[in-house]
Amino acid sequence: MPRIFSGIQPSGELHIGNYLGAVKNWVALQHAHESFFCIVNYHAITIAFAPDELRRRTRDMAISLLASGLDPAKCVVFVQSDVPEHTELAWIFNTITPLGELERQVQFKDKAGRSEQVMAGLLNYPVLQAADILLYLADTVPVGEDQVQHLELSRVVARNWNTRFSPDAPYFPEPQPKLTPTRRIAGLDGQAKMSKSIGNTIGLLESPDAIWEKLRPVVTDPARQRKTDAGEPEKCPVIYPLHKAFSSPETVTQVETNCRGAQWGCIECKKVLHANIAAELVPIQTRAAELQAKPAMVDELLADGGQRARAVARETIAHVRDAMGLDARTSSPSGATA
Ligand code: TYM
Repeated sequence: MPRIFSGIQPSGELHIGNYLGAVKNWVALQHAHESFFCIVNYHAITIAFAPDELRRRTRDMAISLLASGLDPAKCVVFVQSDVPEHTELAWIFNTITPLGELERQVQFKDKAGRSEQVMAGLLNYPVLQAADILLYLADTVPVGEDQVQHLELSRVVARNWNTRFSPDAPYFPEPQPKLTPTRRIAGLDGQAKMSKSIGNTIGLLESPDAIWEKLRPVVTDPARQRKTDAGEPEKCPVIYPLHKAFSSPETVTQVETNCRGAQWGCIECKKVLHANIAAELVPIQTRAAELQAKPAMVDELLADGGQRARAVARETIAHVRDAMGLDARTSSPSGATA
């Protein structure tokens, strides 16, 4: 089975941008792939955080992922810091990654622009991401569009390492992103992408009432001042794309017809969307509540995932150490095996 890897930061609640751009795809792909899904807490500490909150959010993220449909019998769900080989490989990759490649990463420039003091971890963030993926020799990475540049870097890293240490037969694959039609979900402001750090999100576990309070004021096609004004769905930045994600094809056609023909007002259209979002999220929320009541079981599942991931990670690291001459104790100074 082809192997896939992906990760998510436990830096806040899982939102419907994460869900539609990545997690829903993970749930679908786990059946036909050997799959590793990682809660990347080492990445989350590259920005301000509180230790107790990080601990809580890590477990909450696991709960949201399991409730969304990741099945530990079909895939490996684990926490990054349970597998120290991630940071070991990241260090090794730091030594073959040109600084310029890191400085031109858009996410680095964005986040660095917002920080008073920029830490080296923020710059090296995509090197750790390359290590995450390549540790499992994964060639396919289901992500949202914002991760495409990071994956380009992981291909540079794989290529650089192969050229230097495995020139005859490339050891690391060059991972490709696997995107969905919902690769970039706009935030509720209708401008920026939906993002935890901007606070323009709908959380996966928010109650239907709370979701309605957020949807009701959302901006639609500016041409629709009154219900009788005809609109263009393509100019509706949030509601129409969310219909395409949550509503049936028949409903999407109805939305298009009723918007262009001014048969529905925007509130009516939002009510239909709201019902469809609730229909998809409420079962997830019910499962999440069940898991929240069993924290020890969730911790056990994560510990087991960590062990299964580590078994693979150890093999890769052993190969890398050997290829780079980092396995000093297994060889004599003359090169003969001890
Ligand atoms: P993170 O935690 O920001 O997001 C997790 C996943 O959700 C996707 N996503 C979105 N998709 C569509 N629309 C949006 N508005 C939206 N917001 C987020 C992201 O593209 C991502 O797939 N650097 C990564 C975590 C990471 C990783 C990895 C990913 C670490 N190591 C290795 C893949 C492979 C990140 O910050 O994702």
